[in-house]
Amino acid sequence: MKEILEILCGIIVLVFAFHYYYKLKFDFWKKHGIPGPKPIIYFGTAKDMILQKKVPIEYYKEIYDEYKHASLVGFFIKTNPILMINDPVLIKDVLITDSMIFTERGIPYSKKGEPIMDTLFWTKGEESLHLKAKLSPLFTPSKLKNMLSLLIQRSEAFKNWLDNSLLLKNKCINCSELADKLTADYSSVCLLNYDIKSFQDEENEICKYVKRFNKGDSWKYILKQLLPDKVIYNKLYDLISYYLFDAEVMQFCIRFAMDIVNYRGKHNIVKYDVINVLKEFKKNKKSTEKVEMLDQYFVTQLFVLFLAAYDTSAKTISNALYELALNHTIQNRLREEIRNIYIKITGEITFDDMNTMFYLDAVCKETLRKYSIADVIMRQASSAYTFRNSQLTIPKGQVVNIPVHAIHLDPDIYPKPEIFDPERFIGEATRSRQSMHYIPFGYGPRNCLGERFGLLQFKMGLITFLRNYKLDVCEKTPRNLKYISAVLVQQPKDIYLKITKIE
Ligand code: HEM
Repeated sequence: MKEILEILCGIIVLVFAFHYYYKLKFDFWKKHGIPGPKPIIYFGTAKDMILQKKVPIEYYKEIYDEYKHASLVGFFIKTNPILMINDPVLIKDVLITDSMIFTERGIPYSKKGEPIMDTLFWTKGEESLHLKAKLSPLFTPSKLKNMLSLLIQRSEAFKNWLDNSLLLKNKCINCSELADKLTADYSSVCLLNYDIKSFQDEENEICKYVKRFNKGDSWKYILKQLLPDKVIYNKLYDLISYYLFDAEVMQFCIRFAMDIVNYRGKHNIVKYDVINVLKEFKKNKKSTEKVEMLDQYFVTQLFVLFLAAYDTSAKTISNALYELALNHTIQNRLREEIRNIYIKITGEITFDDMNTMFYLDAVCKETLRKYSIADVIMRQASSAYTFRNSQLTIPKGQVVNIPVHAIHLDPDIYPKPEIFDPERFIGEATRSRQSMHYIPFGYGPRNCLGERFGLLQFKMGLITFLRNYKLDVCEKTPRNLKYISAVLVQQPKDIYLKITKIE
């Protein structure tokens, strides 16, 4: 009897301790007078996202839609308090004016257990900014001019391959895969001076592994999401995440990097490109870190940079093709602009010619508005920070989110946001808009490294498709584009379209 009583008392104490722990955690935003959804034990406010009933991009949009009139909204992912910033003035403060306080993204990962996460995108502010400063000169306007010539050559190779392979067999084609192949080819040739031979295999190996890495609904990923945050972080997390990490992807990264390095050695290629910058960066780090770590560092940086370069543009191209297949007036107007340019010029299309194509530019911008590559833009405060005109001081380490996708779909900013309308980005409509209401590439020191190259690939991809093919819906075309769960690049399910060659 005494033992039972002791056990009962123990349970009651545990329940109280548990309740007190959660109350303490979940009072965080209430204490600061910040509105937001009501948290529940274990999940915080993110139950549907953690249980995969909603993808993150939907989850953040739902919070924004409900609380968009508040400048700041507080919510919880498990016990972690996150602050959503809706006011464009405060967004500008975080991304630009006070960016030196917000140089990190604050995405937790284990360096040991998930080595692939230890790259520019996730690492600490100072190191990332240092590497970014070395990589940025690869994307100056004069470098891009040289890359354009390569893109034109590769577009021709793509067209020949498509005409003589898939188009002979089928007209209803998976355009997401086509765009993957095209931009993986563009990026490997321009950034790595290496031909990954996209147009040879049915499914390219690198595209396969990128897909696998980005898959946000694998059982390992779901299990990782279910781990209670921070409670068992650090050492224990290192151990667990090692078993949840897809080691085969890492093996592939090593093979991929080694193939490129060996190829360069064999053909004596010394070029100023991504490989060269990473190698130099690696050499300079040698004095402070172990060589094995550096090899891992090199291959993972390379893989994630390559992924960031081609997968983003590929998804953007296939989203645009989808809208153009649904909207023939826009498709025809864009094709006419492209044709007119080619009638005027004698040789290859130039950078300056592309800059005169204002409708192409508007179609690209509208695609990036309607279909975000990022669900939210994340930053972490490196010290306590007080928002202007507000009583709120966030502590050091606080993560803040800027709901880019939800802002781009806000009907108060973009009337009838579900309608694809490039006119939103022509003339006065653009000038009268708050700059922080259109941020597909982020902003400030941690903005997108490859914005200009990404746009160039995107534009060249659209030119290639529209000059040569007519786009229509087919029986497999989705009625609307629903996002799937993804680790890095947000994307819809595969898009099938009917492609007809223009004679
Ligand atoms: C349409 C194409 C692209 C889109 C929409 C896009 C979008 C983004 C966004 C939203 C971010 C986060 C920015 C922030 O936090 O403020 C980002 C970061 C990044 N992007 Fe892109 N991106 C594209 C193409 C590229 C390309 C072509 C490259 C490489 C050449 C690239 C490399 C990166 C890198 C390395 C980062 C992390 C930068 C840092 O942490 O400082 N992206 N991108």
